[in-house]
Amino acid sequence: MSRFAHPAGDRHAEVLPEDRPPHVPSDLNTLDPTIWSRTSGRVDGSVTIGGADVRDLVARHGSPLYVVDEEDFRSRCRDYREAFTGGEVHYAGKAFLCREVARWIMDEGLGLDVCSAGELAVALSVGFPPERITMHGNNKSLAELEKAVEVGVGHIVADSFEEIARLGFLADKHGRRPQVMIRVTVGVEAHTHEFIATAHDDQKFGFSLSSGAAAEAARRILALPQLELVGLHSHIGSQITDTAGFEVAARRLATLLVQIKEEHGVVLPELDLGGGYGIPYVDGDVAPDVKEIADSLREIVAKVARSAGLPVPRLTVEPGRAIAGRAGVTLYEVGTIKDVEGLRTYVSVDGGMSDNIRTALYGAEYTARLASRESTAPPMLSRLVGKHCESGDMVVRDLWLPGDLATGDLIAVAGTGAYCRSLANNYNYLPRPAVVAVKAGESRVIVRRETEDDLLRGQA
Ligand code: LLP
Repeated sequence: MSRFAHPAGDRHAEVLPEDRPPHVPSDLNTLDPTIWSRTSGRVDGSVTIGGADVRDLVARHGSPLYVVDEEDFRSRCRDYREAFTGGEVHYAGKAFLCREVARWIMDEGLGLDVCSAGELAVALSVGFPPERITMHGNNKSLAELEKAVEVGVGHIVADSFEEIARLGFLADKHGRRPQVMIRVTVGVEAHTHEFIATAHDDQKFGFSLSSGAAAEAARRILALPQLELVGLHSHIGSQITDTAGFEVAARRLATLLVQIKEEHGVVLPELDLGGGYGIPYVDGDVAPDVKEIADSLREIVAKVARSAGLPVPRLTVEPGRAIAGRAGVTLYEVGTIKDVEGLRTYVSVDGGMSDNIRTALYGAEYTARLASRESTAPPMLSRLVGKHCESGDMVVRDLWLPGDLATGDLIAVAGTGAYCRSLANNYNYLPRPAVVAVKAGESRVIVRRETEDDLLRGQA
C-alpha cells in the first residue's frame, strides 16, 4: 500500500481557519457602500452600476464582464488630489491600465507610474505628457531605460547599481539629463500578504537603507553630472490597512534626505512615498482614510526636514488599488450548482482564475451578491468557483448565497477594479473578458472581449 496516497476526505473543509465560514449576513441583498462602487445600487431588485442594469450589461456585452464605474474611479482621483494638495498623485498603472483609463488619469490631473515599456506605450499612445510619468521596475531593460530617457519621462526610479551606470551611459548618448530617484528599501514590516510586501530587506526591490546601499546609490548618482538626483522613493507593499508602516517609512526616508544633505551638501526636493493604501473587500475591513494619511505623512516629513533646517520636500504618492479597486465589479453567469452534502454548495461561474487570480494567488477575499434579482431564500454556504481545471480555481472561497440560486442567475463580485484585468491570463484558452465603462446609464467597451482569433494569433 502506498505510504503517501490516502482516501479523499473532507479535510479541507474541516480545517478552515477560525473566521470561516464567515458570519451569516442578515440580508443577502444589501450592497455595503464602503465595498461597492459609489454608484452601485439596486433598482427593481437588479444591481445597477453607473445607472446601468447588470442584466442589460450582460445582454449587451456578454459574460463574464468587467464593469468599471467611471464616476467612482474619477472621484477617487479627486479625493487623492485634494488630500495631497501641494504634492503629486501618480496613479500606479499596474493596478489597471488601458488607453481610456490613461485618459481619465490625464483629465483628472494625476501623474502616472509605469513599470514596463508596454505600460509606457499605452500612456504615450493617448498623448499622456511624458513629464508626468514615472518609470519604475526592478529590472528595466536597456531598451526600456532608453525609451524612458528618449521620450523624457519626468522621473526614473533607479533600482540597482547596474541601472545607475546604464542611465549615465544613456543620458550621455541622448544628450539628456534625466531626473532620477532612488528606490529605498526602508526595512518596514508591512502587515500584508508576503508576496505584496516590499520593504523588508530580504527581497528584490530597491537599495537597502540599513546596509548603506541607498547612501551608496546617492553617491554614485551624484558623481554622474549627466544625471539629476531629485529625490528618494519608498513603496512598502500593497493592501496595507495599518498606516503605521507608511509613517515609519516616511520618517526614515526623510531622515536619509537629511543625511544626504549632510554628506554632499545637496538638498533633494522630492520624496515619493509610494502606494499600497488598502481598500475594504469584505464586511469588517477598514480602509485608511486618505485625508488622515496625507496629513500625517506631511507632518512627519515636515518635522524631520525643519528640524534639520531643510526646506520641506514635495511629496508624491502612488495609489493604484485605492483608485481603481472599488470602481470595478465583475459580472458572471451562474452555471453548474453542486451541493456537496453536509459541507457546502459549489457554485460555478463562467470565468475564474483567468479573470481573477487573486484568490488563488494571495488568498484574497471578496464580497459577491446575486445581482440579477433579489431573493429572500435562506442563505446557503457556498464556494464561488471558476471553470478552470484546478481545484484552486476559486473566486470567493466562502460566502453565503441565497438558497434558491439557479443556473442563469448573475453574480456580481465587488472590488475587482485593481489587479484583476491586469493579472488576467488565458489559462485553458479562455478569452479575457471585455471591460466596459459605465456612467449615467450608458455603457461603452473600453477593452473589447478577446476572441478565439485573438487566442490563435501569433502561433505557427
Ligand atoms: N508604487 C509602486 C512602486 C508599486 O510597486 C506599486 C504596486 C504601487 C505603487 C501601487 O500599489 P497599490 O496602491 O495598488 O497597492 N498584484 C498584487 C499587488 C501588487 C502591487 C505591486 N506594486 C495584488 O493583486 O494585490
